[in-house]
Amino acid sequence: MASTKQINIAIIVFPGAGGVGKCFLSQLEQLTYRRPTPKLVLIYICTSKKALYSTDYLAVKLNDVSSALASSSLAPLPIPKLVEFLNASGSKTVLVDNTSSQDVADAYPLFLSNGISIVTPNKKAFSGSYKLWQDIFSAASKSGAKVYHESSVGAGLPVISTLKDLVDTGDEVTKIEGVFSGTMSFLFNSFAPTSGTGGKWSAEVKKAKELGYTEPDPRDDLNGLDVARKLTILARLAGLEVESPTSFPVQSLIPKELESAASGDEFLEKLPAFDEQMEETKAAAEKEGKVVRFVGSIDVATKQVKVGLEKFDRSHPIAALKGSDNIISFYTKRYGSNPLIIQGAGAGGDVTAMGVTGDLLKVLSQIA
Ligand SMILES: NC(=O)c1ccc[n+]([C@@H]2O[C@H](COP(=O)([O-])OP(=O)(O)OC[C@H]3O[C@@H](n4cnc5c(N)ncnc54)[C@H](OP(=O)(O)O)[C@@H]3O)[C@@H](O)[C@H]2O)c1
Repeated sequence: MASTKQINIAIIVFPGAGGVGKCFLSQLEQLTYRRPTPKLVLIYICTSKKALYSTDYLAVKLNDVSSALASSSLAPLPIPKLVEFLNASGSKTVLVDNTSSQDVADAYPLFLSNGISIVTPNKKAFSGSYKLWQDIFSAASKSGAKVYHESSVGAGLPVISTLKDLVDTGDEVTKIEGVFSGTMSFLFNSFAPTSGTGGKWSAEVKKAKELGYTEPDPRDDLNGLDVARKLTILARLAGLEVESPTSFPVQSLIPKELESAASGDEFLEKLPAFDEQMEETKAAAEKEGKVVRFVGSIDVATKQVKVGLEKFDRSHPIAALKGSDNIISFYTKRYGSNPLIIQGAGAGGDVTAMGVTGDLLKVLSQIA
């Protein structure tokens, strides 16, 4: 019988510097020194092009993964073969999915039904169809495998664990509201600051892109879908059967005329012509002594989920956010009119990987 003192780890994706995969690997290496039991053995790691593993399950050395992966001639195993490989290892296995791949997410029920636990910052599985959500949790409950995804909302901030605790201890969550995107936070904190005037919208978007706060094509942030995915996850955890991230109102900040721009660069070039619309929105808020912010909210009682622009008093915690921080407020029966607020960096390789490593520790405490 396999020893419960050894847990095998399989990691999908180890991208370049700064990515979550690389930061996670470094945290995993430190973990093996700090907590020698159970013994954590890396038996498989891959990018979309290359993989490292051996048919006799020899440990992949954690301090040498980068160069070993670069010189590997092995291709990644197709997912069904990977499941077979992990299943035959003889030890309990945790899969760490650091991709943003829908294909990998779609295979979670298969991994879980084979007893392979999952930790991941990938939003796709939990914000896709409601059927996939149900399949994931029913596979996990049947096999006893664990699935944790703290970093899929707010990176390393304890958003999901807090919501689960509120629900599991019998509190009544009435509303969840917040700024769920580091990019949107940065953009609106500079475009409509609580003091001073802020820059033109197009100039702020350009600056955010230059500073690396946006996706290569800023429209991937401005369409609101990333925030809608996070809201879908939280709404489902709060008990709402949200069908998909497109099944509720999501305000896109991409002008209709620029939806078809051929590239992110062309979009940025043409954006100044649409500054007037955003200036009007900002001025309307200012007239009421408020500032505009891009927020997501879930009204649990009325089952309303929405993502878009809202006005806030300058003294409101959402208005006073700094830099690219996220803020998430939980309004509950126990907390009354003063919400439980979680705030801090909602993006970045190290903090996101921290959420993944924290999830791994939770899984280990239950399966080892
Ligand atoms: N970075 C953050 O601040 C942050 C915060 C919260 C959550 N997250 C989530 O964390 C995950 C990783 O983030 P990241 O910033 O490191 O992402 P990223 O830079 O987009 O990297 C994801 C990598 O996944 C790889 N990939 C895609 N499909 C794959 C597959 N089937 N097999 C193996 N590799 C595959 C791609 O690498 P190839 O070049 O090999 O295609 C890509 O480089 C994402 O789900 C993201 O949404 C990130």
